[in-house]
Amino acid sequence: MYEKYSASPIIFCFLYLLKMANIRFWLNLWNEQRCIIHIFFVMSSKMTNPVLSSSPVDEIPKRGMEAERAYQMVKDETYPQTQPRLNLATFVTTYMDEYGTKLMNEAIDINYIDQTEYPHVAVMCGRCINIIANLWNSPEKAKWKAGAVGIGSSEACMLGGVAALLRWKAKRKAEGKSCDKPNLVMSTAFQVVWEKFCQLWDVQMRTVPISLDKPTLCPEEAIKMCDENTICIVPIAGVTWTGLNDDIEALDKALDTYNAKTGYNIPIHVDAASGGFILPFVKPECKWDFRLKWVWSISTSGHKYGLVYPGLGWVVWKDKKYLPEQMAFSVNYLGANITQVGLNFSRPAAQILGQYYNFIRYGFEGYKDIQSASMEIARYCHDKIGKMHCFANYSKGVDNPLFIWYMNPEYDKKAKWTLYDLQSALQQNGWMVPAYTMPKAIEDMVVMRVVVRQGMTRDMADMLLTDIENAVKEFEKLKYPTTSRLAYEKRERQLGKVFAH
Ligand SMILES: Cc1ncc(COP(=O)(O)O)c(C=O)c1O
Repeated sequence: MYEKYSASPIIFCFLYLLKMANIRFWLNLWNEQRCIIHIFFVMSSKMTNPVLSSSPVDEIPKRGMEAERAYQMVKDETYPQTQPRLNLATFVTTYMDEYGTKLMNEAIDINYIDQTEYPHVAVMCGRCINIIANLWNSPEKAKWKAGAVGIGSSEACMLGGVAALLRWKAKRKAEGKSCDKPNLVMSTAFQVVWEKFCQLWDVQMRTVPISLDKPTLCPEEAIKMCDENTICIVPIAGVTWTGLNDDIEALDKALDTYNAKTGYNIPIHVDAASGGFILPFVKPECKWDFRLKWVWSISTSGHKYGLVYPGLGWVVWKDKKYLPEQMAFSVNYLGANITQVGLNFSRPAAQILGQYYNFIRYGFEGYKDIQSASMEIARYCHDKIGKMHCFANYSKGVDNPLFIWYMNPEYDKKAKWTLYDLQSALQQNGWMVPAYTMPKAIEDMVVMRVVVRQGMTRDMADMLLTDIENAVKEFEKLKYPTTSRLAYEKRERQLGKVFAH
């Protein structure tokens, strides 16, 4: 878009030279030169001024611009729509302390895979895997535990799922059986990554519905869905939709009986995207991890309650024997033999440094304090919201620092507003609190979710609760139903304006 102006400086230079041939020019040199140069710069800068034209959408511009201007254009377009601390929709870290941030910024140019140039980054990654494996009570005796770094829980879940698929295939082949119909069992409250995994690797997804009566994965129902083709069951610690934990200990027990009866040896992969960094600190007595017989792999997000900026995920296997050899690719890279488990080859190292920094900076007690404070704030809000006349909590307790609620069914019969209206009203005060419908089987139920992260204070919680109360007071003055209410009564599908998963 700038190229149409590109001839202008040449034309001006040409005119300028013509002028120089004129003797009168020399007499008025000073004044005229100043004037021409001024016009030259003003016109050429106006003509090429990107502020006056729209940003490139389809093609790379022919010519570039000054760094400062490019920086400003990108920055202006991507500034946050809300204050990150008022964003109660995301699980992902928006705050790290000064030194954590500095360390990560200084490592922005480090490629994790370049282990010849940065050999200690790989060691630091191994230390993080060891620390996480031990937080999850790994029985592995080897110095370096079996695990991998991912760009988030999604990559970590994929790696856990692929390992389960390859192990199942190897077992079936060894038994001379077909391996063309693998399936995986989990609740309908799965995170979208599992749908992706099943589609990409051609695995059938079998889901157990959740409901108000059975708000988490029912172990007995899950077992009923298993057969010889089940590659694994995936319970969740910190269900995205509800914040609850599936009962992994009960599932392990039921599976043990089933495996003993059938000889299928179906394992468990725990998707602990949120719970993986909560349970070890706030409920160490809860058995959900490698203490359980059939839990062979666990994944988590370092960038959620691991307290590191995005994107970072971790997956750990109970022992090397559960990590299929085909998944560890040995490559000769820049003169060194590197073994890598991961979907991506190059990846940023800064997050690994950030994770290790957090481990040594906070220690177990520091993490425990941060997670316990988030739990307490979540419980406080849960309690207060549950007592408001217009709402009902989805669960009695809070398992992780997040929870959901819905409209009290009696109140709902007469209300002129919906939780989508409340979402919009809160947004006007800067809060991001998503409203959304629940998964299959209870898809008519509209809920609202609050995720408490490090840094949310009791004062902020009170501000949020007051804003909710004030919004409800205004809604109760309405004479006519809102557009959202009319749509709700007609059972029309509504989309929340706040990103929820
Ligand atoms: C249970 C669960 N699994 C997987 C994911 C995907 O995590 P990530 O965004 O780190 O890839 C999430 C994200 O919210 C989640 O809640």
